[in-house]
Order: sequence, then structure tokens, then C-alpha cells
Amino acid sequence: MKVTVVGAGNVGATCANVIAQKDIVNKVVLVDIKEGTSEGKALDVWEAAPINEYSTRVVGSTNDYTQTKDSEVVVITSGLPRKPGMSRDDLIATNAGIVRSVTESVIKHSPNAKIIVVSNPLDVMTYCAYLTAKVDSKRVFGMAGILDTARYRAFIADALNCSPKDIQGMLLGGHGDTMVPLPRYTTVAGIPLTELLPKEKIDAIIERTKNGGGEIVNLLGTSAWYAPGAAAAQMVEAIVKNENRIYPCCALLNGEYGYKGIYLGVPVMLGKNGIEKIIELKLDAAEKALLDSSANAVRQVMDVLDKQLVAVK
Ligand code: LAC
Repeated sequence: MKVTVVGAGNVGATCANVIAQKDIVNKVVLVDIKEGTSEGKALDVWEAAPINEYSTRVVGSTNDYTQTKDSEVVVITSGLPRKPGMSRDDLIATNAGIVRSVTESVIKHSPNAKIIVVSNPLDVMTYCAYLTAKVDSKRVFGMAGILDTARYRAFIADALNCSPKDIQGMLLGGHGDTMVPLPRYTTVAGIPLTELLPKEKIDAIIERTKNGGGEIVNLLGTSAWYAPGAAAAQMVEAIVKNENRIYPCCALLNGEYGYKGIYLGVPVMLGKNGIEKIIELKLDAAEKALLDSSANAVRQVMDVLDKQLVAVK
């Protein structure tokens, strides 16, 4: 089984590395436009195989998509990352062009692939890949919720001084400042979070989670890669092992949660066909209001993309 990761920058290379370490596929193809980058990083990961004991062959390719032929899953990480002071939405014009051309090449050589988008602005780049790929939306979805809930869970683990392994959390909405972490659907080894931490503490954790990407951009001058790469790899694992895992992912909604024709973060079941099912949670009025404002924010950026597409045509 073959998996392709497009973009050998920090996120793509990390994702390829984590997939290899999991030893779950025969081959990972890492593609980049910059001569030598994907080959060099792929070779480095392959040379770690004898030490870390995996058989997954990792190869690099400078923009030669014939090597990606018949991939089961393709992860698209291409595009510019954020710099301090930028919002993810500032990247739309540049990254939409990149994601469009990458998706065309991907689907040409792997018409049956499941496509995981990681490029920002996430929800709208996933929509862009969907419009370009012209395949069932169950096969085109985005990675955001696993990353955002991972940050949320890490901050909860810090607050409780417990292992992050025991924290389960759910989060809805776009991958931006309007994301909606759900304390009502968060547990620590089955114990409701709301019984373990006071509201002010939970609110502070939610705020830090919403700005989690920006916190790293401010520290590093560019966006994160270890957690984003690992999150995308976890989605690949759920698909290639047909695990039917339940994760928050960016999915096209067709009436779920009361929205139609919008890509938004919701809990889904991930298996061999991609999105096997979208799970609808019961929301209270306050949660639904927050989700509405997140959906509005995503919709506005989708409209920007739609206008650009009209201009291109
Ligand atoms: C982040 C970027 C990858 O949240 O969107 O770190």
C-alpha cells in the first residue's frame, strides 16, 4: 500500500516520518517542487529505518507525480506557512493556486485516493481541493480537529498534572480563532472535565487552544509542524488500517448541524473509504451560536475563493 505526502516542508516531512515510524504501509512518496528537498528528506527518513525498525520505504520525488500512481491516501501540505501577524486567511490567494494545481496532479495519477488537506486556510483549502478533484466529498477532507484537540488535551493535561493519554476531547468549527472546543464533551478517563476544573480555568484553556497555532508562530516565526504532521499521520493510519476511528475533521456538510455546502470541523468516523460517517452531536444554544459564528467566518473565506474562481474563468 502506498501513501503520498505532497510538500516536503516541515509539516510534510514530519508527516512522512511519523507514517514511516508507524510501519503501516509499504511505501511513502514525498513530493516537492524544490529539486532535492524531497529526495534528501526521504533518504534521511529511510536511513532511520534500521534504527527505528520499520520497513516502510520512503522515497522523494521532485514534482514527478508518476511515482505517486495509485496511492491509497494523499496528504497535501503544500503552500506557504503563516508569519507573525498573519492570519491563516491571509494565505488564501497564494495557497489556493498551489492546492489547485497539486490536486489536479494527484487525482490524475491516483483517481481513487482519499485526499487529506493540511494547507491553510484549512477549511477553504479543503473546499478548493474538493472543487478541483471532482470526487465524492467522503474522499476529500481536512486535518485540523485532531491538531486543535491535541493542543486542548495537552493544556488540560498540564492543568491537571496528568497524562494527556487519558484526556478525550471534542471540538467543532473552522481551523481558526472561531473554533469551538466543547468542555461538555471532554472527559478525563471518563470523568467529565467540568467536575475536575473550575469554569475560569477551562475558559482560559479554550482561549489558549484557539490561539494555539498563533502561539507557535509567535515563538518560531513560522507555523508548527510536529503536532500537525503527527495529526495528519493519525488520519492516514485510521484509513489504511480501516479503523473506523472517530476524530474531529474538516468535512463537507450536507445538512448536518443545519449547514449545507460548507467545509467545517465535525466529528467523523474515518475508515477505508475516507469519511464513513459524520456524527451529529446535540448542541445547546450557546454551543450552536458559537458554531454559527465559526461557520460564518469560514463561509466568508469560501466566498473569497468562489469569487477568485469566477475571476479565473
Ligand atoms: C497550526 C497551523 C498548522 O495550527 O495551522 O499550527
